[in-house]
Amino acid sequence: MTPQFGPDGSLRHMLSLKGFNRQQLTSLLDHAETYLVGHAHYAPRQPRLLGRTVALLFFEPSTRTRISFHLAALRLSADVVTVDGDTSSQRKGETVLDTVRTLEAMHTDVFIVRVAEAGVPDMLTEHIGTGKSIINAGEAHHSHPTQGLLDVLTIRQCKPDLGNLCVAIVGDVRHSRVARSTAEALQILGVGELRLVGPEPLLPAAAEFAHAERYTELDAGICDADVVMTLRIQRERMRDPAALPSDAAYFERFGLTAERLRAARPDAIVMHPGPVNREVELASAVADGPRSVIARQVTNGVAVRMAVLARIAESLSGTP
Ligand code: NCD
Repeated sequence: MTPQFGPDGSLRHMLSLKGFNRQQLTSLLDHAETYLVGHAHYAPRQPRLLGRTVALLFFEPSTRTRISFHLAALRLSADVVTVDGDTSSQRKGETVLDTVRTLEAMHTDVFIVRVAEAGVPDMLTEHIGTGKSIINAGEAHHSHPTQGLLDVLTIRQCKPDLGNLCVAIVGDVRHSRVARSTAEALQILGVGELRLVGPEPLLPAAAEFAHAERYTELDAGICDADVVMTLRIQRERMRDPAALPSDAAYFERFGLTAERLRAARPDAIVMHPGPVNREVELASAVADGPRSVIARQVTNGVAVRMAVLARIAESLSGTP
């Protein structure tokens, strides 16, 4: 595997949050903050990626991640091209690597990739030319590093004292790359307490999240939590989705309603990476209510992706 960081500590690729230490993560979050001007604006367009080409290769559905990477690249003045799994030559049997090589022949500098198969972003780093970058925009159920970053940025903005926070991640943690990357980021930043809450079949193996407490009842799992992050049930990643309870039965037991949210701290925030399945994991009254920071997560997503792209720009080869 090609290292994410160059010998001088510069960011070459964004594959996972695993290799980051607290100082590197904090510095990236601080960098992202510089692109946020209050709640209503992003900082003006900057020339950081002028003359560079950024390709978005999304072989799984995406709205927030794809558009926010696209906007982030445009706001840094890159040229942006998009490859969509449904309309690309992947449908004719072309491999992801061949698609990347095709775009590389058109002098693309940065490849932002979302794939259902684990290991593809790492594999691509071994085949692309030096001075080109791979960014993981969602890899199987394994990792989604920029989502982890935008989640901890949102938490840090709302509740800066992370060491004293209790964060509960509720729902289909087992199949969630978001939960894995956000938990990684929280651990690096020294979160006080992390809980995983859901029915047993949707919780990961205990060894995988060794630092987290597991709860199979919602009320106990979110009791006195400062942050409640809800997740979608990701049926597309399950071998036997029919074995799951119905949406109505799940909502009854684990759906976050205004009433059940009373178990958390009175100032608890509610998060969700999107897309939300209303009245399955989250009641509309909570998703749209005063404790929800879901829109703020989305806003932060552009800033975080600008920071990642700007850092990576320093490692790109040649003059644009
Ligand atoms: C998630 C994903 O694709 O992992 N969405 C996102 O990127 N914001 C979560 C999901 O699909 O449920």
